[in-house]
Amino acid sequence: MSKSEIPKNHQYTENARGTVSWRSPSNIALIKYWGKKGFQIPSNPSLSMTLSDSFTETLVKYSLTQNPGTISFDFYFEGARKPQFGQKIATFLETVSDIFPFLKNFHLEIHSRNTFPHSAGIASSASAMSALALCLRSIEQQITGIENENDEFLKKASNIARIGSGSASRSIYGGYATWGKIASWEETSDLFASTLKTNIHPVFRDLRDTILIISKNEKLVSSRAGHGLMVNHPFAEARIIQANHNLHELLEYLDSGDFAGFIKVVENEALTLHALMMASNPGFVLIQPGTLQVIEKIRDFRKQTGANVVFTLDAGPNVHLLYPKHQTKLVKDFINDELIGFCDENKFIDDKLGFGPQKLK
Ligand code: DP6
Repeated sequence: MSKSEIPKNHQYTENARGTVSWRSPSNIALIKYWGKKGFQIPSNPSLSMTLSDSFTETLVKYSLTQNPGTISFDFYFEGARKPQFGQKIATFLETVSDIFPFLKNFHLEIHSRNTFPHSAGIASSASAMSALALCLRSIEQQITGIENENDEFLKKASNIARIGSGSASRSIYGGYATWGKIASWEETSDLFASTLKTNIHPVFRDLRDTILIISKNEKLVSSRAGHGLMVNHPFAEARIIQANHNLHELLEYLDSGDFAGFIKVVENEALTLHALMMASNPGFVLIQPGTLQVIEKIRDFRKQTGANVVFTLDAGPNVHLLYPKHQTKLVKDFINDELIGFCDENKFIDDKLGFGPQKLK
């Protein structure tokens, strides 16, 4: 919808207040987005698996503001006012007010909660920003009365989510999602993600993700700062080539069901992400001794049992263990016997491939 289609403030007569709510999941990248060119444009295409049980639920009450022309909102996280999150949301709302002019005519009361603990190695910005983007999109529909086709609705929500946090653009879609222009692939874009419509072999259709919490501590360097350090990074150019290459290989393996190929690419991406961090200037290290010990155990276990189990890492020390559903017993026994001792307070979180966001109100 173009800006001119949005009614001016004095036209907001009906539907001038309401409530919308969305549940939106986090995701774990298999091909990592690391580095940007310009404002929220990824240096390379990425591909992720949308999670199921790790999600944010956001409810937004909107009503005409007394002070049109400025952004006005209150933010509550898990029932309490959280002014420390306010700045990020204020910047986001200000940035997207060009696309959603109604933001300067309405006061928003935003309530948000996560199903997963803070610093669990689950991207909370992906679920939070996608849930908020979907809420804004629903408000837009309610106050303008203009309903879009589902595809259009989601595409714009993904574009808005990307502005809040790049990885959030992919959480708008269930299953596997890509974000970033893939050469010779029409429907891909740097501006929004799309669901992977290519064939997915049954072995990858019911993937489990057990997240081993190596440390619950706040990480020292944010993803945003890490992306920034890819500017003038000595390996930046090589990374873009590698990511594109890995993505094409991964698509082949997802189609053919080649788990060995899947392991090769996914682990290469995880280790490359952290290698890029270490080689940044200044370099930084987010993995911990426990992360490396767990990785070694996983590789040993695989050698001994031939199990289809693979690790990946987010921008932090915690380890995501991916495996097909039918290997759940084998892998859970392995976790309990050999890995749990490396987990902070023996904590891990079980999740799986999910179907994407859900409208609650
Ligand atoms: C390592 O999406 O959190 O998780 O766009 O600056 O908010 P911003 O960054 P963010 O970066 C995610 C980095 C990653 C890899 C990925 O999810 O692709």
